[in-house]
Amino acid sequence: MSKSANSRIVLITGVTKGLGEAMTAKFASLGHRVIGCGRQATAIESLRGRYSAPHRFDVVDVSSDADVARWAKSVLSEIGPPDLLLNNAAIINRNAALWDVPVAEFDAVIDVNIKGVTNVIRHFVPSMIEQRCGVIVNFSSGWGRSASSDVAPYCASKWAIEGLTQSMAQELPDGMAAIPLDPGIINTEMLRSCFGPSASRYPDPVQWAEVAVPFLLQISAKDNGEPLSVPI
Ligand SMILES: NC(=O)c1ccc[n+]([C@@H]2O[C@H](COP(=O)([O-])OP(=O)(O)OC[C@H]3O[C@@H](n4cnc5c(N)ncnc54)[C@H](OP(=O)(O)O)[C@@H]3O)[C@@H](O)[C@H]2O)c1
Repeated sequence: MSKSANSRIVLITGVTKGLGEAMTAKFASLGHRVIGCGRQATAIESLRGRYSAPHRFDVVDVSSDADVARWAKSVLSEIGPPDLLLNNAAIINRNAALWDVPVAEFDAVIDVNIKGVTNVIRHFVPSMIEQRCGVIVNFSSGWGRSASSDVAPYCASKWAIEGLTQSMAQELPDGMAAIPLDPGIINTEMLRSCFGPSASRYPDPVQWAEVAVPFLLQISAKDNGEPLSVPI
């Protein structure tokens, strides 16, 4: 990794596949330091092999406040607050009418997509506020701004992200930003779950990251509270 004054500490949740994995590769290639997490231990081990220190990858379930608290304590003492915090980790329900979604599946979507984002904010953002700088990007969706059949739990969680983020933006000191981000439509495991084979018509995560990472790097305090979309 090349070091420069412009190198940022980028914290990304959900780096084991999809957009998180592709963003990790792109940020690292540009000389930024990536701190990432996910639940799959073998995938985290593989990331450690591909991106050595000062990058850091941990097995963390963001839906566990205790897990996130331990992770944050360790990251903040070893590395310090992130400059860019990307709340990317999320899950989607299997396609079904709302009344057919099992209780445990509905709860899991809310636990990861809303409570997980809040757990990460709770344990990392106070350290960013102390420095009075930094950008928090909470991954929303087109389905955080529109609706569709068969994905009501996911839609509900992403509409929540829009409101949560815009409220939080009003709580931050000057010099910081929180924004909800619609990343676009990208051929990942999540998209294949809801779109089926037609997911292959969309860009792959590596192509997407070529545009998304520079876009993320230029978000600043002037964008605070603005719902943004990756221009793909
Ligand atoms: N793909 C699209 O077209 C699209 C469109 C709109 C919005 N988005 C949003 O973009 C983000 C990334 O989506 P994606 O398509 O890349 O999804 P994906 O391929 O399913 O990847 C999701 C990532 O989140 C991690 N994750 C899930 N639950 C977790 C938990 N409890 N704790 C920690 N990590 C967890 C997964 O890793 P583990 O399984 O290892 O935990 C994985 O690395 C999501 O917020 C999604 O809602 C995607």
